[in-house]
Amino acid sequence: MTDVVADDLLPWGRRYLMCPPTHFGVLYEINPWMHREVSVDRDRAVEQWEGLVAAVRAAGAEVVTMAPAEHVPDIVFTANAGLLTGQRFVPSHFRHPERQPETAVFASWFEAAGYEVVRLPTTMDHEGAGDALPFFDEAGRAVLLSGYRPRSDAAAGSVLSGLLGCPVRSLELVDERMYHVDLTFCPLDRRHAICAPLGWDTYGRKVVEALVPEPLWLEDDEALLFCANSVVVDRNIVMPNVPPRVGRILEGWGFTISEAPVDEFLKAGGGCRCLTLALDVQLA
Ligand code: ARG
Repeated sequence: MTDVVADDLLPWGRRYLMCPPTHFGVLYEINPWMHREVSVDRDRAVEQWEGLVAAVRAAGAEVVTMAPAEHVPDIVFTANAGLLTGQRFVPSHFRHPERQPETAVFASWFEAAGYEVVRLPTTMDHEGAGDALPFFDEAGRAVLLSGYRPRSDAAAGSVLSGLLGCPVRSLELVDERMYHVDLTFCPLDRRHAICAPLGWDTYGRKVVEALVPEPLWLEDDEALLFCANSVVVDRNIVMPNVPPRVGRILEGWGFTISEAPVDEFLKAGGGCRCLTLALDVQLA
């Protein structure tokens, strides 16, 4: 086991955007977790969302909330708002028409907050921080690991690289259940990340092996509990589920874990990380 030192910490993840689940529900099916006949308990969803806000704050981060919007139930998943670096924001282009109206809502929030909003070409889909997470290359520079196929186009990688001023490495997502990269990958600090090879092809696995010095490889059943979909604030990790083996390894690495149950949101195919968007990311 390696010594975990303070300057290994992620330089971001201390300020998040979240959106209350006022209009949340499973009203359509765009991933294999969603079933319209399963009803969402709205009160429980609100309780769980508030529990997550409290857990993220207790972990040491600031939470900023935005006003909910009607007719876009998945807007609670702010990870899909877009990608940002400093004060520059690139709104998502959603694959499915059901989520496309969210783009305007997120873009106006960021405009009002003083961000420079720059757009992807309209022909290109990319679902934001849900499909691209920053890690570090051998020289310690930020690199975006970007998932493609189910929701984002492979070609968006190089365009994003130009708009964000940061290299992008692409990962093909091959398992329908792991339809966003944030279900398969969770950076923990500069050396460690939770990794779910279930979601990747052989080439993708090699990309991650080359990038992450000390990966925690998830078993498939652990990955399917969404434990990679966690919020990391310095040495604290807020997880939707903590499989025992995973908990032991993370604690052995010096992390403190808290569990924030979000099963009402798992009905829509989203966990803790999907419900948050880090606002303090600086890539270039
Ligand atoms: N129902 C949403 C969708 O299918 C869930 C989004 C989850 N977000 C994430 N970052 N993985 O788009």
